[in-house]
Amino acid sequence: MRIFLAGATGATGTEFIPLARARGHALRAHVRPKTAETHALGRDTDAVVCDLADAAALEAGMRGCEMVVSLVGTMRSRFGSGDTYESADIGSTRQLVAAALAVGVPRMLLLSSFGAGGAGAYLQMKGECERLVREAPGLRWTIFRPSALVSAPTAEGNHGRRELLPGLMALGGALRCLPGLRGVADDWRAIPIAVVCEAMLAVVEAPRDGEVLAGRHLWAMA
Ligand SMILES: NC(=O)c1ccc[n+]([C@@H]2O[C@H](COP(=O)([O-])OP(=O)(O)OC[C@H]3O[C@@H](n4cnc5c(N)ncnc54)[C@H](OP(=O)(O)O)[C@@H]3O)[C@@H](O)[C@H]2O)c1
Repeated sequence: MRIFLAGATGATGTEFIPLARARGHALRAHVRPKTAETHALGRDTDAVVCDLADAAALEAGMRGCEMVVSLVGTMRSRFGSGDTYESADIGSTRQLVAAALAVGVPRMLLLSSFGAGGAGAYLQMKGECERLVREAPGLRWTIFRPSALVSAPTAEGNHGRRELLPGLMALGGALRCLPGLRGVADDWRAIPIAVVCEAMLAVVEAPRDGEVLAGRHLWAMA
């Protein structure tokens, strides 16, 4: 499948790309111009280097794709570099949805967060991103709501692959053993990025339209 991948240069994108390519998917990885100067994807001939606010460039890059996968996001610690929840998460979702509708990409997978729509600026923002996708007319969507993402440390430079938190992982594992708490524990416990990527590829290959998938689904799918 030909996939437009937004957020390709982040921690999740870095793990998603080789897995997707190994399974035969063709990726158009979005890279911001400033990031392209330093990131290896900036030299990838299939990369789409543009600002998402450049609608014409975005639509040209997305044309012919069968699906959009959005892994875009920011965090408060990066507000100083210019990204905010409005510009990064909400703005990108709005721009990606508009481009998908404009060029006829039928499906979108949004990586959201456990608790989206709940209390606090981050979860409220995630709820708004989900609303933009759910309410896009005619768009077939799937939303992922993982808890904290973790990955094994590597020497690669990116936004910082999240290291495994042994205490948190052990606590999540212990909770699963309590009667009736397995689903809740799987929603709540930290989840390896590789597991989320496997679950995303499962959805790419076997659509789960209109579903919001939390940790309990993602662990099971991977
Ligand atoms: N980390 C967690 O524990 C966790 C838990 C649950 C959900 N999530 C969500 O999962 C998603 C992926 O997380 P992650 O940890 O892989 O993220 P990440 O490493 O911080 O990567 C974020 C990606 O978004 C891109 N981006 C940021 N602002 C942008 C903008 N204005 N326009 C275009 N691209 C922009 C970044 O591009 P540049 O490289 O150019 O900056 C990067 O490719 C995010 O939505 C996050 O909120 C994360």
